[in-house]
Amino acid sequence: MRIKSLKLLNFRNYKELNLDFFEGINIFIGENGVGKTNILEAIYVLSLTKSNRYGTNLDLINHQEESTSLIGEVDYLDYLKRYQVDISKNSKKVYINNQEIKRITDYISNFCVTTFMPSDIDIIKGSPSTRRNLLNIQIGELYNNYLKYVNEYNSLLKIRNDYLKKLNINGNMDFKYLEVIDQKMIEISLKIYYFRYFYVSEINKIIPVVFKKITNISNLQLEYVNNLNLENYDEEKIKDLLKNKFKKNLNKEIILGMTLNGVHRDDLIFKINSYDAKIYASEGQQKMIVIAYKISELLLFKKIKKEYPVLLLDDVFSEIDVKKRNNIIKYLKSDIQVIITTNDILNIDKSLVDEAKIFKIKNGNIKTKGGVKNVRRKSNKSL
Ligand SMILES: Nc1ncnc2c1ncn2[C@@H]1O[C@H](COP(=O)(O)OP(=O)(O)OP(=O)(O)O)[C@@H](O)[C@H]1O
Ligand SMILES: [Mg+2]
Repeated sequence: MRIKSLKLLNFRNYKELNLDFFEGINIFIGENGVGKTNILEAIYVLSLTKSNRYGTNLDLINHQEESTSLIGEVDYLDYLKRYQVDISKNSKKVYINNQEIKRITDYISNFCVTTFMPSDIDIIKGSPSTRRNLLNIQIGELYNNYLKYVNEYNSLLKIRNDYLKKLNINGNMDFKYLEVIDQKMIEISLKIYYFRYFYVSEINKIIPVVFKKITNISNLQLEYVNNLNLENYDEEKIKDLLKNKFKKNLNKEIILGMTLNGVHRDDLIFKINSYDAKIYASEGQQKMIVIAYKISELLLFKKIKKEYPVLLLDDVFSEIDVKKRNNIIKYLKSDIQVIITTNDILNIDKSLVDEAKIFKIKNGNIKTKGGVKNVRRKSNKSL
């Protein structure tokens, strides 16, 4: 997957911006606050229709304006498509090839990105909801049906919780209705569990190899934590377990007014030699785990969708030692379009700089250099 061009109107500090990207490595250089991360964020929003930074979609609109528009041309499997996201104070609209897509879930999973930003360390350090969100985005980019299931589950969860609260006030209400909701929740949960088990097992085929190549440490594994205690997906067992949990917890759930079990409570743990990396790994190792995970995502994506997603790297090289940096660069030298930001070009390996298109941002202007076609882009067989 390659983004060929990006047009921004009234996005953050950019009133109007037109960029043409190189099919290989693109490097944005500029001082603090010039708008480098804003460009990566714009590409992320074009892909997922919302930002990965704190704040709401309203923060994306230039402060002096009422709406913003992002347009990008993306090449995937030799088809060029035009993606557009329009955000105003009251609405968000998305288009593919000028045709409005009514359901956001039908838009996502067409143009896909993988990021590595300093805040991605939250994948390890943050709360379970950060990791569930990650699971949803990643699986959603691979299979757009999955996001429909998640949305459906969340609606049912809300209905169920509201009904539990009503039951608490009025015990004479109809328990049959709750049984109907429970049945629906079990059906939709099975689909979500299926995708999550599948995704984690696929990542686990890749991540130990990548981590070993970068750090020389073996045995990194991703553990899917749910309250089923099952190693693998097993439809019949899951159905029974969920039914029993609904039955067993009912009184407690009515008192609390919430559903205690289910995919909305799932979590992930990164483990090195069976130890939880959140507690056991050093700061630097945690960063490497996140990078290994991101690279694994790229490789899995390529396996399933036949091309790599676009990789967005926000100022990630500055703190990584040279040896590990070079190990990471080996991956970047394959057939992946990469967009990197940095304050200082010296933070980026010369071999990458030599073959990159450079965008220098200064005083609101962007000057470009390099990015000649066919300099690179030979598939790296070792991947
Ligand atoms: N809605 C908005 N309207 C106008 N300007 C905005 C808006 N949101 C953010 N900005 C401006 O965008 C700039 C920040 O851009 P960005 O985060 O991309 O900087 P950066 O180049 O990545 O900096 P650093 O090197 O420090 O990470 C700030 O100057 C900020 O004032
Ligand atoms: Mg930045």
